[in-house]
Amino acid sequence: MHAAAIQFSGVYKRYGTAEVLHNVNLHVNAGEFVGLAGVNGAGKTTLIKCLLDFCNIDSGSIQLFGQLHLRAASRSALAFLPERFLPPHYLSGADFLGHAAKLHQHSYDPSRINHILAVLNFDEGALKRSVRSYSKGMTQKLGLTATFLAERPLYILDEPMSGLDPQARAGVKRLLSDVRKAGKAVFLTSHALPEIEEICDRVIVLHHGVPYFAGPPSRLCQDYSEVSIEQAFLRCIETAPHGRTEQQALTSDRR
Ligand SMILES: Nc1ncnc2c1ncn2[C@@H]1O[C@H](COP(=O)(O)OP(=O)(O)O)[C@@H](O)[C@H]1O
Ligand SMILES: [Mg+2]
Repeated sequence: MHAAAIQFSGVYKRYGTAEVLHNVNLHVNAGEFVGLAGVNGAGKTTLIKCLLDFCNIDSGSIQLFGQLHLRAASRSALAFLPERFLPPHYLSGADFLGHAAKLHQHSYDPSRINHILAVLNFDEGALKRSVRSYSKGMTQKLGLTATFLAERPLYILDEPMSGLDPQARAGVKRLLSDVRKAGKAVFLTSHALPEIEEICDRVIVLHHGVPYFAGPPSRLCQDYSEVSIEQAFLRCIETAPHGRTEQQALTSDRR
């Protein structure tokens, strides 16, 4: 059997005395699209920071394609878009993409870049300008372009739709459908439950650092007898601390 793209096993993370992740056991299979849903402060970004070894975990282990996440080489399999993408302000958009291509050990491929920019409805002429003149949406599109250029087996996207208009959101979905056709995995966070339902094979509901549900979006609706995934999500987190036990949540991920 192939190793999972991502495997969290018994992960705990505290900031000072505040426990932010509590016994997280989760996986993302190779080629699978998984969406992490949770209210602000649920621990989504912290989970990603732990995965990328940007911060230490207090206990447990994390593996990327079967390699411990503490090994730098494990991260060669992934491309990452942070929640707050901020390119160095003194670079032009083209310079930034050039540096990103080098970091990803690709040659600068104008036709591929222009294709992604066109899908995201980003004016190619703006690449000559300094990124400090970019709007929030343009900056996000630049970050998405650099990320999708990387062509890795795993994409980690923290709030990829943040600051994007509906046209650009549709563009991201098109790029994600190319990623899916290429058999790559995606682990993304989003507040937009209908978007997760549309894009992802499985949704994980994280609440107070505990994954209370992991399964297909349709099953989240079924389990909570709701038609709308937003309502099912709300029912899940309302009942989570008192209803489902942590063990039940973990069992869900294995189903
Ligand atoms: N560097 C940090 N130091 C202390 N607390 C932090 C730090 N980063 C995040 N937190 C806290 O951890 C919790 C989870 O934050 P975060 O992972 O950013 O949530 P989410 O991405 O789900 O909105 C929040 O209560 C947040 O205030
Ligand atoms: Mg976050």
